[in-house]
Amino acid sequence: MLTSLTLLVPPAPSSPLLSFNRLSHFPFSPSISAAASASDFLRLVSRRLALATKMQSVTTMTTQEEECMGSVKAQLAKLFEASLKVTLPNEPDVEPLIAACTGKFGDYQCNNAMGLWSKIKGKGTQFRGPPAVGEAIKNNLPNSEMIESCSVAGPGFVNVVLSKNWMAKSIQKMLIEGIDSWAPMPPVKTAVVDFSSPNIAKEMHVGHLRSTIIGDTLARMLEFSKVKVLRRNHVGDWGTQFGMLIEFLFEKFPNFEDATETAIGDLQAFYKASKQRFDSDPVFKERAQQAVVRLQGGEEKYRRAWAQICEISRTEFHKVYQRLGVHLEEKGESFYNPYIPGVIEGLTKQGLVEESQGARVIFIEGVNIPLIVVKSDGGFNYASTDLAALWYRLNEEKAEWIIYVTDVGQQQHFDMVFKAAKRAGWLPQGDNSYPKASHVGFGLVLGEDGKRFRTRNTEVVRLVDLLDEARSRSKAALIERGKGEEWTEEEIESTADAVGYGAVKYADLKNNRLTNYTFNFDQMLNDKGNTAVYLLYAHARICSIIRRSGKDIEELMNKGTLVLEHKDERDLGLHLLQFAEVVEEACTNLLPNVLCDYLYNLSEIFSKFYSNPECKVIGSDNETSRLLLCEATAVVMRKCFNLLGITPIYKI
Ligand code: ARG
Repeated sequence: MLTSLTLLVPPAPSSPLLSFNRLSHFPFSPSISAAASASDFLRLVSRRLALATKMQSVTTMTTQEEECMGSVKAQLAKLFEASLKVTLPNEPDVEPLIAACTGKFGDYQCNNAMGLWSKIKGKGTQFRGPPAVGEAIKNNLPNSEMIESCSVAGPGFVNVVLSKNWMAKSIQKMLIEGIDSWAPMPPVKTAVVDFSSPNIAKEMHVGHLRSTIIGDTLARMLEFSKVKVLRRNHVGDWGTQFGMLIEFLFEKFPNFEDATETAIGDLQAFYKASKQRFDSDPVFKERAQQAVVRLQGGEEKYRRAWAQICEISRTEFHKVYQRLGVHLEEKGESFYNPYIPGVIEGLTKQGLVEESQGARVIFIEGVNIPLIVVKSDGGFNYASTDLAALWYRLNEEKAEWIIYVTDVGQQQHFDMVFKAAKRAGWLPQGDNSYPKASHVGFGLVLGEDGKRFRTRNTEVVRLVDLLDEARSRSKAALIERGKGEEWTEEEIESTADAVGYGAVKYADLKNNRLTNYTFNFDQMLNDKGNTAVYLLYAHARICSIIRRSGKDIEELMNKGTLVLEHKDERDLGLHLLQFAEVVEEACTNLLPNVLCDYLYNLSEIFSKFYSNPECKVIGSDNETSRLLLCEATAVVMRKCFNLLGITPIYKI
């Protein structure tokens, strides 16, 4: 009951949370994902057993190496960290700067020498310049199976060439253990991803589609990294508009329980009509304002009407989520209502809340407008709700990372809320400590005319129509390619789903989220270029190579040996090995496009390998090894698709 809810004494905000002071880079864990299904689990166990029996022949891992799990970059960082300590014992805590090389001198480089030189210059060390520092860093590197050779270039860059034996073994090990063994492990246990979050009775527009797609990917990356993710749909289910909606509902449906979804039809049109009535009829307006008061007072009839309107909207939203395969848990704005007074009271006691022009506000350093937390009429607003929600997430849900996915237009709002939380001591001052709140902003979706995306006949694009079109276009393309005769109806339908929805998602995710992008069906459904269609087909082609070989890939994994002899094989192997650090980067910086770039490059590098006659797969002397390389590519591609929320296809 709303009455009891509103009267609930909210919990007082607790004392400031401590920061974990942990490094923000992600060490890796080989452990099993808690979310893995029973069959995944069995598969993993059997792989582990297979690995154990094979340990001596293929993977001669030492205990020291076992400890050195992590991305290639993280493992190299460990080695260089040790070298830096020996090279300059008086300069502790120097973070190793490791980067993948773009040049031809190595695979990775350590870039510490120049920075270190400027630190030690004039301090009377034995070094006479950055190249000498680089030389010493190189010489002090601990022995490792992973490094083939090292050289110092220019002003002290230490270039590393990885051992191709080690590379091959690492990839085979991933095949046996499963891709989860390459998952990052962020320094947080629980995260909230607040995404999608449309508003009840208002349109769920393309902005909400972007939020849904980007938020789902971020949640998936964190889940892959074994973080418990609370996928929160912060729906706008509260506010003064409900007065008008409820009154209009009573008017249209005197017996308002008859107001089912089918009876109301389009809830957006209903919203529009009620708004029109509100703006043109002062008597209605008065009643609507009264309705808000009665709803907030918890009057049963009003509360039920409100719940009914929410339910109809929810059914609509659910249709979109189901198509997109996105899972969300709703905790709408109304959920936090009972917490607002206590949170504001706590902030007031801390001296943060001030009176300004009748309203109660929090002043934020560096921002010229204050954050209004109680309106001049005494009501609460979007900001009060977000403060209460943040408080709840930190204290009740114990989230260590809270991520908000909305358009960039809301950046200032979140910036102010986060700064207020820092002032209150809920969040630590520094941006690299936890708990942490991050706003993931994104740009606009544009139409062909370069303006905000709209369709011809309606003002806003209905998401369901958009997904329908992507789907029917991809189905038409399949029929055109003669699949109608070749495939079952079910295969056609599921492929059309995968390609159609995958295309919409990928077109969105491949851009840096901050930039605006143009929505174009022809472009996103093109089977050439950086599109989901191209990538899904590339994956299906690899699967068909493996099928055509007639070999049992599980058996090859365990009995055969992967080698990286040819340059194109080695290039592919190196790129595969970089998967772990790319996911880590995409996750740390909350940038899905980083993963898309990686996936596209992977398919390009694979093509180069596969189309080279010197790297013939089926029927060649190196068939086993090359089939394993094909399988590893398919496994990594599938994980990328999975993280991007795209369903892979296996044949074309
Ligand atoms: N309902 C809001 C909108 O449509 C988005 C909510 C985002 N989340 C939040 N905690 N404020 O713009």
